Amino acid sequence: MSTKSDLLRALMECDEAISGERLARRLGVTRNAVWKAMGQLREEGYGIEAVTNRGYRLVSAPDRVTEAEILRSLATQTLGRRMEVHAQLDSTNNRAKRLAAQGAPHGTLICADSQTAGRGRFGRTFFSPEHSGVYVSYILRPRLPAERAVMITSMAAVAVARAIEALADVDVKIKWVNDLYIGGRKVCGILCEASMDFESGQLEYVVLGIGVNVARMDFPEDLAGIATSVGNECDRAVSRSRLIAEISNQLEALYGQLETGEFMAENRARSIVIGRDVTVLRGGEQFEAHAVDIDAQGRLVIRTASGLSRVGAGEVSLKLTPPERDDEGRASGTSAEK
Ligand code: BTN
Repeated sequence: MSTKSDLLRALMECDEAISGERLARRLGVTRNAVWKAMGQLREEGYGIEAVTNRGYRLVSAPDRVTEAEILRSLATQTLGRRMEVHAQLDSTNNRAKRLAAQGAPHGTLICADSQTAGRGRFGRTFFSPEHSGVYVSYILRPRLPAERAVMITSMAAVAVARAIEALADVDVKIKWVNDLYIGGRKVCGILCEASMDFESGQLEYVVLGIGVNVARMDFPEDLAGIATSVGNECDRAVSRSRLIAEISNQLEALYGQLETGEFMAENRARSIVIGRDVTVLRGGEQFEAHAVDIDAQGRLVIRTASGLSRVGAGEVSLKLTPPERDDEGRASGTSAEK
């Protein structure tokens, strides 16, 4: 044990302020060592108050992702019952894919406090700074034909929306197929990657990656105005460990509906795309369409000059056409995405 962790434990055990001298005696180190460790804890985000003539008191602890904290709120049978929690990874999806290929069981959960190469769809990057977000990947082994893999993304979107709303007073919407929005800005992205057994046409495994911006945060220039966090949208601080547990609970509750797709009704009800004009980006081409519905297979039903058609999530990326403004310049819907 280091002086820093001994000091943290001592401060946690004290209800009242404790002097530097008593701390040094209790830990068996010099006062200078206590003072240095105190500085390290403050740098890590612990709030340590100096009370005149009485000493030091721990007033707040940073929001850390730990296995113990996740387990406190985890109510699942399988999802997350095996987990890894890392301070940093390149990408939780990369780690999960390696483990899945080595045979890791259904439900394995990989968490990281930060990612150096967080990935989004179509080769985009996912902003994943430390102490700020939930970056998790689940290894799933569903008995599902490969063409129904998109249902996992649609199910996850509903599960994460429910989980966020369970912990924060916000309304979460879904931008087909893999983005969650609060107040017209993106708060979460989902990246589902699958490996298929070519003999049977069934999925071998799926890595379901979820990134949620949680803490109050400032976004870099290219994301400011289009991204938000749960903390930026509500007054209450949300524990990231608790959110991971709640996402796991909600996912497990919906998992049994994968074949029937019952969750699609809620997915549609939360959609900010249905009824809107959209720009569909498919390969190199781009065309305008009206989003009419999302079908039972999770495909977007669109209307163009040539009639109704359906587009699958794997093929297209979507831009919402900004809503028309009324005479006073008021927009009737939510903002467009980059
Ligand atoms: C998107 O916005 O296109 C999807 C973003 C998905 C980000 C999550 S964060 C955890 C997991 N690991 C990754 O590298 N990506 C996903």
